[in-house]
Amino acid sequence: MPFPTEQIEQFVRAGYPILNLVSWEEERVQNSIKSIGVKVHGDNCKFYVWSCTEGANNGSSSSFNGEDLVVEALSKVEEDTGPGFYIFKDVHYYLSEPRLIRKLKDLYQNLRKSSKTLFLISNTASLSDDLEKEISVIDIDLPDRSETEKIFDFVIKSSTSESIQESLKPNMREACINALLGLGALEMELALRRVLVGKESMDEGTIDALLEEKAQLVRKTGTLDFVRSRVDIDDVGGLENLKEWLYTRRMAFSKEAQEYGLDTPKGLLLMGISGCGKSLCAKAIATAWSLPLLRLDLNQVYSEAFGSPEEAFRRAIKTVEATAPCVLWIDEMEAGITRSGEKSGDSPTSRIFGYFLTWMQEKKYPVFITATANQIDLLPPEVLRKGRFDEIFFVTLPNRKERREIFRIHLESRGKDPEHYDLDSLAKNTEGQSGAEIEQAVVSALFESFSNKRELNDRELIIASSSIVPLSTTMREEISSLERWASNRAVKASR
Ligand SMILES: Nc1ncnc2c1ncn2[C@@H]1O[C@H](COP(=O)(O)OP(=O)(O)OP(=O)(O)O)[C@@H](O)[C@H]1O
Ligand SMILES: [Mg+2]
Repeated sequence: MPFPTEQIEQFVRAGYPILNLVSWEEERVQNSIKSIGVKVHGDNCKFYVWSCTEGANNGSSSSFNGEDLVVEALSKVEEDTGPGFYIFKDVHYYLSEPRLIRKLKDLYQNLRKSSKTLFLISNTASLSDDLEKEISVIDIDLPDRSETEKIFDFVIKSSTSESIQESLKPNMREACINALLGLGALEMELALRRVLVGKESMDEGTIDALLEEKAQLVRKTGTLDFVRSRVDIDDVGGLENLKEWLYTRRMAFSKEAQEYGLDTPKGLLLMGISGCGKSLCAKAIATAWSLPLLRLDLNQVYSEAFGSPEEAFRRAIKTVEATAPCVLWIDEMEAGITRSGEKSGDSPTSRIFGYFLTWMQEKKYPVFITATANQIDLLPPEVLRKGRFDEIFFVTLPNRKERREIFRIHLESRGKDPEHYDLDSLAKNTEGQSGAEIEQAVVSALFESFSNKRELNDRELIIASSSIVPLSTTMREEISSLERWASNRAVKASR
């Protein structure tokens, strides 16, 4: 969604006295509010910004700094002659103060008939239960595509050399803009300027640097990871049913598909046995569909290390929506949640989870969710309800044909020609082993051959794999209970 200029304008013209603008981008919000002020009240609109460190600042002088002076600064707003826009930052930190609550209620009454508007910039939609009636909330999304295009063009025009501008081809512009989506306006500007420092022209390397810059910035949210995966669908052995499902939908996020009237796929739940390729597939889907991949760490959301779980989650979702179309990967979805009923219903975890399920159901943006889970019995039943995910796939231990393929993939990826090995007998000898265990056997056989200074041979591979006690043995009971669960609730990922 674009910046809600019109919505804010309507609130101001309708005489709403206090607006809470929820955003992590102070500068962008401030600039936009200023131009709305000029639009609504003309050039004589006063414009003050208050923060506890800078006080009330109108660009030339400042007064009322210090956190104890927020109430006094608000009185000044009351006394000032309008028209004016007054932005207060960080007020949400002081809302335990009864005088402040009172002051805001007074302002609500007194500003209504004035041409003055008080704007709070905060990172939370729920400031205080006491002020629900007085303060209207406007949620500000990250820049959408058209705003991002403007920012990109502005930076290129204003601060790059002619040679850069000439080297910029339309497909590169498109790729850069895609890379910037999901960042704040200022972050976009800084990231772009940074990758262009000392450059004479734009090339693939610039886009790569921009994606790297974005990965760093996204990581700072603490809950999201922008995954730059190179895993391809051909790196996954077996799981033919799942692959076919993905192949059928490979164009689902294209313009053509929308015009054809297709619904964009909602998401997949991959459940099953550890080490059989669930996380691998999550990465491969994004590559197969040429979509960016974001990984959400629900444990970090619940941890409160990045603000309250609600804030952390909202913030993550904003980034995800701004990046759409994209794949959102939630690894080990069951981590951090317990079966509903086991915990009191109103814990932050279950609230966030409820919020998440609602978001999943109602999301307006093309975001494809790939969730993985090992312990399906920990997931609340509403997750598995029809309509939440398009499909639930059960990923189990690979069969003989699949094991053959997994050996081939891991030998090849390490520069060994699979033709030189007896894949059939390797597959036959590794009944009950997972993909991860097969990979581990290849790796340790390679160590063995390297230390003996000879080419890898079948014998080393067989010895390495027979020394692994497979999961199918150590976790026999868990696996058969998972299989029973899945038999009538999930589709087999393998054919
Ligand atoms: N079907 C497969 N084809 C190729 N490699 C595989 C396959 N399954 C597993 N592997 C190898 O094993 C590694 C671990 O697999 P992955 O992380 O996808 O397992 P997982 O199902 O997510 O397990 P967990 O539940 O423990 O997270 C992969 O990175 C890959 O190298
Ligand atoms: Mg995994």
